[in-house]
Amino acid sequence: MKSAVKRIGVFTSGGDAPGMNAAIRAVVRASMHYGVECIGIRRGYHGLINGDFVKLDFESVSDISRRGGTVLYSARSMEFKEEAGRSKALSTCKLLGLDALVGIGGDGTFKGLLSLAKAGLSVIGIPGTIDNDIACSTYTIGYDTACNTALESIDRLRDTMKSHERCSVVEVMGHRAGHLAVAVGISCGATVVLVPERKVDYDEDVIEPIRRARLAGRTHFMVIVAEGVEGGAYEVADKIRDATSLDTRVTVLGHVQRGGSPTARDRQVATYMGHAAVRLLVEGKTCRVVALNGDDVVDYDITEALAMKKDLDKEGLRVLRDLTGME
Ligand code: F6P
Repeated sequence: MKSAVKRIGVFTSGGDAPGMNAAIRAVVRASMHYGVECIGIRRGYHGLINGDFVKLDFESVSDISRRGGTVLYSARSMEFKEEAGRSKALSTCKLLGLDALVGIGGDGTFKGLLSLAKAGLSVIGIPGTIDNDIACSTYTIGYDTACNTALESIDRLRDTMKSHERCSVVEVMGHRAGHLAVAVGISCGATVVLVPERKVDYDEDVIEPIRRARLAGRTHFMVIVAEGVEGGAYEVADKIRDATSLDTRVTVLGHVQRGGSPTARDRQVATYMGHAAVRLLVEGKTCRVVALNGDDVVDYDITEALAMKKDLDKEGLRVLRDLTGME
């Protein structure tokens, strides 16, 4: 098949996520398969503005799938938000002979791609974020690894909380989205899970489930708080202590959730998505976001994808409520 593009630039942008390297490898190897050149842009849009690139070939992406982080580095570029920055980025593309870009990241990354598409570049986005908050995709690269990393720490915390009959308040990442908190809460059997999407009623959502669990004989408690919840984990812990006299301890898991070797699921999804991104470009498609719909790899128009909304997992919330007494 004759490819519609000749030279692809691949980059990672925004918060990194385990599995991004597997996506980079797949983009490079698929490009080679279709006879298309591929170069790596380092440090996201910042690198595109400054012409920061690296040649990638079969061997240079060998054995990177199992590594955490991103070999292309990542950044959040303020300069690219300005017209002057975008115009410099376009000049770089011209200079490097790029007619296509694959950006791995979140909504911010896709918005950037859209602005470059308007200037004639072929662009494809791949969802990579531990938050799993890309509306068009049931899954984003990095989510499974982040859930497992958080879970491993929480299991350890539970041991010591149990010994001391304490209440552990654990803050997981998720500034605007509670998907990670819900998944982690279900997996660890939390008594309470708080997410930014829902205003917290302390009596109903926090104190009451703890009271019920106490009446049922429980002497230690696990409370999961997403980063974006008003007041954060420290305020939640103070309120629990004041209302119940429980000995509370706060653990903020933070960026540890973004690191580590990706799970099989993240490597696999990333590989499928990277391959699909190149196939779309070769077929002459542009302005698409590769996504998962269940187990199927699909794609959406970027503008449509950005307009979509993603609800928290309703079944997950129901299970949490039924098993922990959350309303
Ligand atoms: O978007 C991913 C994410 O990890 C969010 O959960 C978190 O709020 C944010 O990135 C943290 O970003 P930074 O690495 O800039 O501190």
